[in-house]
Amino acid sequence: MNNLKGIILAGGNGTRLRPMTDLISKQLLPIYNKPMIFYPLSLLIKAQIKEILIITKPDEQENFKKLIGDGKKWNVNIDYIIQPEPKGIAQSFILAKDWLNNSKSVLVLGDNLFFGQGLQVLLSSVFKKNNGATIFGYQVSDPERYGVVNLDKNNQILSIEEKPRKPKSNWAVTGLYFYDERAPYFAEKLKPSARGELEITDLNNLYLKNSNLNIEFLRKGFAWLDTGTPDSLLEASNFVRIIETRQGLSLGDPNS
Ligand code: TTP
Repeated sequence: MNNLKGIILAGGNGTRLRPMTDLISKQLLPIYNKPMIFYPLSLLIKAQIKEILIITKPDEQENFKKLIGDGKKWNVNIDYIIQPEPKGIAQSFILAKDWLNNSKSVLVLGDNLFFGQGLQVLLSSVFKKNNGATIFGYQVSDPERYGVVNLDKNNQILSIEEKPRKPKSNWAVTGLYFYDERAPYFAEKLKPSARGELEITDLNNLYLKNSNLNIEFLRKGFAWLDTGTPDSLLEASNFVRIIETRQGLSLGDPNS
């Protein structure tokens, strides 16, 4: 996959997982039998992305490097940069602008776990697109916790709202995004939100304004788990355990 790079965003404060995250980044905590970051990392590696950037908190970079290394054992190249403060998911593209060097990119959040037969095929077809951005929607029962898409009757996106009080659908925006080479330039145009962050929803809405935002629906057969709370962390561990022990599949293993 030439000219397509992958970014894993693995900073943040992990306040909802305190005190577990007082000494260690959320993305290094275990999900069943592997550190959390192995799941998004293996997603990118299996999608044939050869250049990967891991963004971490300043004092945690060494731990990630010790755990993951330079990627040679998986035949990929892994670089690291620091996010000085958690100023929003869209800040990734400002921090990664030079590293991206005008490439297209896939951004995956370091605490998101995706699973499903056919996921690699779906990703390859999205990555072949030449321009615009693609988000991945997943139906949830508690959309007010997420970015939520408002769709017309042809399933075209009308708007995306961040954590709406009255969600217009139950399609949440997952932590996996594909962007063309303009992402860093659009990110630089963003203003911090009321909570002081550069919001990924605002970046997606900029693509939408330019008629360049697509959505892929992760329908039945796919699983998306975000692991930011004690309950969702435990659920994710149980999920991986069941898949691994009952189906004999290995999740979060770049070699499998
Ligand atoms: P969140 O779960 O929204 O934030 P958090 O990880 O800081 O947790 P909490 O809300 O409990 O304090 O972040 C989603 C993912 O994005 C997670 O992997 C951390 C990462 N992230 C960053 O690396 N930098 C940021 O500035 C933000 C907002 C998130």
